[in-house]
Amino acid sequence: MKFIAKTFAGLEQMLSMELQQAGAEDVQVLTRAVSFCGDTALLYKVNYTCRLVLRVLLVIKEFEFKTNEDFYKSVFNIDLTDYLDKDGTFCVHSVVADSIFYNSQYTSLLAKDAICDSYRDRYDCRPGIDKQSPEVTIDVHVYRNTATISLDSSGISLHRRGYKTTRHPAALNEVMAAGIIALSGWDGTCDLIDFMCGSGTILIEAAMKALNMPAGYYRVENYGFMSWKNFDEKLWNDIRFQADDAMKEFTDIKIYGSDINYKYIRSDKENIEQLRLDDIIVLSVEDFADTAPARTPAYVIVNPPYGERLQMEEIENFYQSIGNILKKKYINCMACMLTSNRQAMRSFGLKTLRKYKVYNAELECCFYVYQIYSGSKKQKSEDQIMSKN
Ligand SMILES: C[S@@+](CC[C@H](N)C(=O)[O-])C[C@H]1O[C@@H](n2cnc3c(N)ncnc32)[C@H](O)[C@@H]1O
Repeated sequence: MKFIAKTFAGLEQMLSMELQQAGAEDVQVLTRAVSFCGDTALLYKVNYTCRLVLRVLLVIKEFEFKTNEDFYKSVFNIDLTDYLDKDGTFCVHSVVADSIFYNSQYTSLLAKDAICDSYRDRYDCRPGIDKQSPEVTIDVHVYRNTATISLDSSGISLHRRGYKTTRHPAALNEVMAAGIIALSGWDGTCDLIDFMCGSGTILIEAAMKALNMPAGYYRVENYGFMSWKNFDEKLWNDIRFQADDAMKEFTDIKIYGSDINYKYIRSDKENIEQLRLDDIIVLSVEDFADTAPARTPAYVIVNPPYGERLQMEEIENFYQSIGNILKKKYINCMACMLTSNRQAMRSFGLKTLRKYKVYNAELECCFYVYQIYSGSKKQKSEDQIMSKN
């Protein structure tokens, strides 16, 4: 079977590696998505365990068409009886670009009619339409004269991990938090620090990674594939059991989170206790300027305010002070920042080791990675030359 896993722009390469590790074959990087092949067990596994996926589509048919009738006939000929019962419910979502269909609503309507007519032809009755909670969600993607018809196996987006109770106006999307952790290169073998942790998204994603906990471990929402007619409950339970069984019970690393706003930390503490992650996540109310690593090496991963409500000079000074604290107190650490404010980053005062463009929903951001030596990088290489002589 062919699948398409959707993600944020900039995370595709990391996602392709995650899918390969899960056992995917024929992995191909697309825009904001990765296609791959595998079986039903892999489909369940990717939905449950992968951290960088927003949703997984099962591709049912890809075809070319010239007219509305061609399109209708190709959809009419699709056999969905393995997934959708004649008494079941479904809905259609379409995305259309540069095609004879100038609106996606019309495309959805045509696809819906073709599916209903096909069932009526075979069974003399048709499934119902349910836009709120359909048993099967059909995804139609039309680009020029090529159409891809898929089933959405995830249902509610996979970033809805079900683990967070702290409300934060600028909370990071869970998939983006997992994505920047992957881009940072942190592998869970040393401490991680977020000294502007807000609702704790980076902390929780990091703890789950360190413990090899499946991304869907706390998820309360069902997955789309569970209401398909061919849902294999035994296989699903086996996959979940195997993934849960591979979790580590203990790790001797710590994940430190702090924020200047005590309300977030108070709420994070309750949340993290409920999740039983309080052995690994250590929280405190602190101005970042007063923080320092408990031990090194460690990774700092921060998503600071982007400064929309501040004067440019204020935000530049703020970013400069983050750079200064890292230089002074976080020697022998990797430091990583996600921000959309490129101009403020010019005041940061550290030499970038790696840089990635990512899209946090629609917002273009950059993820910067720094290696903090004692003294500047230039100074260090001069020291090394001196010691050789
Ligand atoms: C963009 S939010 C981080 C959101 C977080 N990643 C999440 O997922 O919820 C930036 C955070 O920086 C905190 N902050 C601002 N100035 C700070 C300072 N001087 N020291 C520590 N935290 C600060 C704010 O309280 C806010 O929670």
